[in-house]
Amino acid sequence: MLRVAPTGPRHSTPNPSVCRGHRGQPGRDLDPWTVFPVSLQSEIGHSLLSPSQTQITGGSKVSRQHRSPDVHLNLNVRGLKQSATLAINERSAQLATEGKTVYRLGLGQSPFPVPQVVVDELKTNAHQKDYLPVRGLRELREAVADYHRRQQGIDLAGADVLIGPGSKELMFLLQLVYYGDLVIPTPSWVSYAPQARIVGRQIRWANTRLEDDWHLMPEDLDRLCGEDPSRPRIVILNYPSNPTGDSYTIDELKQLAKVARRYRVILLSDEIYGGIHHRGQHVSVARYYPEGTIISGGLSKWCGAGGWRLGTFAFPRSLRWLLDAMAVAASETYTSTSAPVQYAAIRAFRGGTGIERYLATSRRILRALGRYCYHTLKESGALVAQPVGGFYLFPDFSALREELAARGIDGSVALCERLLEETGAATLPGVEFGRPENELTLRLAYVDFDGARAMVAAENQYAGRELDGAFLEHYCPNVVQAMSALREWLMRGGQLGVSISCSSAYALRNASNSAETGCTS
Ligand SMILES: Cc1ncc(COP(=O)(O)O)c(C=O)c1O
Repeated sequence: MLRVAPTGPRHSTPNPSVCRGHRGQPGRDLDPWTVFPVSLQSEIGHSLLSPSQTQITGGSKVSRQHRSPDVHLNLNVRGLKQSATLAINERSAQLATEGKTVYRLGLGQSPFPVPQVVVDELKTNAHQKDYLPVRGLRELREAVADYHRRQQGIDLAGADVLIGPGSKELMFLLQLVYYGDLVIPTPSWVSYAPQARIVGRQIRWANTRLEDDWHLMPEDLDRLCGEDPSRPRIVILNYPSNPTGDSYTIDELKQLAKVARRYRVILLSDEIYGGIHHRGQHVSVARYYPEGTIISGGLSKWCGAGGWRLGTFAFPRSLRWLLDAMAVAASETYTSTSAPVQYAAIRAFRGGTGIERYLATSRRILRALGRYCYHTLKESGALVAQPVGGFYLFPDFSALREELAARGIDGSVALCERLLEETGAATLPGVEFGRPENELTLRLAYVDFDGARAMVAAENQYAGRELDGAFLEHYCPNVVQAMSALREWLMRGGQLGVSISCSSAYALRNASNSAETGCTS
């Protein structure tokens, strides 16, 4: 039996249809220690009754002194859900354990293993047990500064770098210590806005358009900042982008830098996917607005080490005060980043031929697969930007709105739920990325393949050869099958009138052709 204590005056009342007294009158006649059958436990659920209101007693009464503490949650976190990306991963795992076929295109995790030299370095340093300096190991900070100097020609020293347990944590600390609005272009990665909400910062969404490939346009940023020119702001720019896979041209970066300088905003340049620009041509906006740009990066994506939790922030000297404040907050929260991981990260950021080869192979595979997915989506009637980096696509199915509406699909949540149920493809709805609910967009992460196996094949049987359709079918079968299933599902309305197998074959051919010709948007 489950015993339910009465609701206190300061708590929200449980659902009256559940919380009934003996005579069935909502909210009335409720015996303070009404006994509900255990079967009601799941029906009531944690969302309706707080821990303090629920006591499983095995039939005997509990004294009031032994009730657990009341629920007093910070208003900023009330109602926030677990990160959408982690939730889809758990849901996919659940469906898989039920024996269903699930294509894991939801969570954006690198499919590739950590480079062996970096793994070896971690093993060698497993004995490192001391707390390290809060800002990070000196050699690592220098290696990161040198990495940015090498890659981008940006003048940085080790003292300008802050190491943290993931760039996500560093972004959170930044928002905590800086007092200003957060400007987020939409669509954008799912965690920027919840972090701002937790800290209690104002969010300004900067709309972008599909016809601009979802790029933030300088004139839109100018308009937004011009409304209150001296207001303190952090503007987020993420490229290659999660969720679109696209990036900015040099000219666009220069224009955006001009606006950022005009309003003296802090530009948080999230370049976590910079290392896996498909052609190795990532350019940082810090080149054009050095005095106000923080470059955010880490090991998670280009080095396949998301679970190691190591992120980096590189500051211009003019923002040292911000680095200092973040270091103070870090010293009172996580203390320092894992010591063995920091030692191993030095090896990763120093680079060298082994790492260059690893990167070249990762990029080759992602480029071929990204092109294949892009062409399949386009032929299925989606509007989608051509990917140039990372491992995401953000198709818009508004051209199929009528056909989808006829199937009861009128927004991104319904779109993703039906896709998961009817094809097994797990994706994330556009609404999670700040898009309107009724927009038919979703994010697809083309990472459901064995990256280690694909790398070996690309470096051996396919050395010096293009990664063609046969390669993708053999080494990335889940992604290829998911795309076919998606295409077939979209065409079920019979609107496109194209043979699936023909078109899929076309997309597979096209993937390798465009990878060869190197067309980028
Ligand atoms: C755009 C973007 N920024 C930042 C992060 C956080 O990366 P990490 O905390 O692993 O460094 C992610 C992770 O998925 C991301 O997609």
